[in-house]
Amino acid sequence: MHLTNVEEKMLAGEEGYAVQKNMQILTALGDIFGADKMIPVSSVQVAGVSYYNLGDAGLEYLETLANKGAKVRVKTTLNPAGMDMENWRELGIDEEFARKQEQVIRAFVQMGITPSCTCTPYLVGNEPSRGDHIAWSESSAVTYANSVLGAMTNREGGPSALAAAITGLTPSYGMHIEANRKPQVHVKIDTRLAAVPDYGALGYAVGKKIGPKIPLFEGITHAQVEQLKSLCASIATYGGTALFHTQETYQEKEIPPETITITRADIEGALRALNDEAARVDFVALGCPHCTLDEIKTIADLLEGKKVTREFWICTARQTMKEAEEMGYAQRIRAAGAKFACDTCMAVAPLKGRFNVLATDSAKACYYGRGTNDFKTRIGSVEECVSAAVTGNWS
Ligand code: F3S
Repeated sequence: MHLTNVEEKMLAGEEGYAVQKNMQILTALGDIFGADKMIPVSSVQVAGVSYYNLGDAGLEYLETLANKGAKVRVKTTLNPAGMDMENWRELGIDEEFARKQEQVIRAFVQMGITPSCTCTPYLVGNEPSRGDHIAWSESSAVTYANSVLGAMTNREGGPSALAAAITGLTPSYGMHIEANRKPQVHVKIDTRLAAVPDYGALGYAVGKKIGPKIPLFEGITHAQVEQLKSLCASIATYGGTALFHTQETYQEKEIPPETITITRADIEGALRALNDEAARVDFVALGCPHCTLDEIKTIADLLEGKKVTREFWICTARQTMKEAEEMGYAQRIRAAGAKFACDTCMAVAPLKGRFNVLATDSAKACYYGRGTNDFKTRIGSVEECVSAAVTGNWS
């Protein structure tokens, strides 16, 4: 890979240990993927924030970098942590975990990273523009950035995203190259997609059929942010897709010859596959990816005059929760007994063994609920989830 004089000096250690170490990571990555040069990035999203996933080895790595003077050079935000950083006791997190998680966040902050702790950075101020090269490492946000915002990012891992933040660079390969972003499969949607779970089911069905190939969707028009973020999360989880196009975003004439059609039967089959046989629910979690203000308003309206009988988490960015407080939605939600889980989510918090059956509107949450926490899962509309939180029944 060709490096400029400045980049050579960074690699040689002239800008200190942290820059050298992270240049080594990026040049190794570039060599593996055949990159010919480094390119500057304007925004970074770092995943791998939960102490649940990092453990002591990850924490030690971050503290070493921070103590050796690592500082980020571009706007850098964080993915969800393993707990609500202010309200962890109410969510049942133990003291020892909380102390370690606080150490993790302190190390990131010492490096100059904004502790936003959300998987929807694009909703709270880290919103790149079309054509921007960025290095994001949250799969749902990567797909959203590439497909909806038109920015250009590979699916980074936590360490490579952090390396991009500390050097301001990323190797030029994959999604950073225009020629690699062409659609590969024409996906005709031959059914009306209704609520958010339908978009999650679409991501599941298409992901299972075409894997990481790039789809061009025919039949998605005027989709809302909530629907698109659900699709992004699901297609990235079940197919590994980092980019899709829709007829609204794709301006070229060239249509890929490989075509598949998604019917109502595919959507219903996906919803069936994500629904386990379980009549009773003991945990309800919404906000995968993190809830928008509109979603929070809907939950507040549905909870009006009701009391929940099951643990009910609304996962969202702290900034969005504060906006919900200003609007009075948050108070109505808390009055019903539901809880905000800011800075965290149902997948990265240490929940294994605490619950048996998760109800959610998110296909991605089903994947992690089953895989990470051994939960049975029920997927349905926000109305069905709120009803389950009140009655404990899934109907
Ligand atoms: Fe976000 Fe957690 Fe889902 S990070 S996309 S809420 S699994």
